[in-house]
Amino acid sequence: MRRVLVAGNWKMHKVPSEARVWLAELKRLLPPLDSEAAVLPAFPILPVAKEVLGGSQVAYGAQDVSAHREGAYTGEVSARMLKDLGCRYAIVGHSERRRYHGETDALVAEKAKRLLEEGITPILCVGEPLEVRERGEAVPYTLNQLLESLRGVEPPAPEALVVAYEPVWAIGTGKNATPSDAEAMHRALRQALSERYGAGFGERVRILYGGSVNPKNFADLLSQPNVDGGLVGGASLELESFLALLRIAG
Ligand code: G3H
Repeated sequence: MRRVLVAGNWKMHKVPSEARVWLAELKRLLPPLDSEAAVLPAFPILPVAKEVLGGSQVAYGAQDVSAHREGAYTGEVSARMLKDLGCRYAIVGHSERRRYHGETDALVAEKAKRLLEEGITPILCVGEPLEVRERGEAVPYTLNQLLESLRGVEPPAPEALVVAYEPVWAIGTGKNATPSDAEAMHRALRQALSERYGAGFGERVRILYGGSVNPKNFADLLSQPNVDGGLVGGASLELESFLALLRIAG
């Protein structure tokens, strides 16, 4: 019922000319898929993604968006700009934005609203830092972050939102959550979304796992009933490993 999504977050890697070659190769080598593939490169690569991937079965999107619609906001990129570039997705609330740029739940909620206004699906990231997990408070912390990051967000269609659970301690560290820990968190997140937006929403919304996903651990994570795909950093940069993840997703 929920289509698996494998989304590659390239973060601040690759330049447009490298991306052009990489994306063309991806398109050429892509196996037939029931799941959905998406790449999320830096802003300057989005026009290249539009050119190379437009009309293909690979979706693309951005890693961030402005909370403002338009105006004198130097350096910002609006949801309308992303829409014009054909983005299907945009990440909001990634822990690197929260940590290095001081993004709050309230700001993340505004960003999600701007995306929804333009028909772009937010990939809303939540997840606990290590000290919170060690205190045994990972679930309440992450649920609170989710609900606060959706405060004031009108109930979207379940297909119009994706949630990504990314424990901060698992990002780029080679340590992933165990499949059963991920499943427990995803179940709790789904329950919270059902309570917030209705049971039908909770059943249909996709919840991705992110944090050191690679071709060795992905199948086990994906076998969990509430894990609907992966938000992948490092392992999405090499074509071979991204393709391996897509083959696992099927
Ligand atoms: O958005 C992706 C995550 O931050 C995961 O990154 O796969 O390199 O751990 P990673």
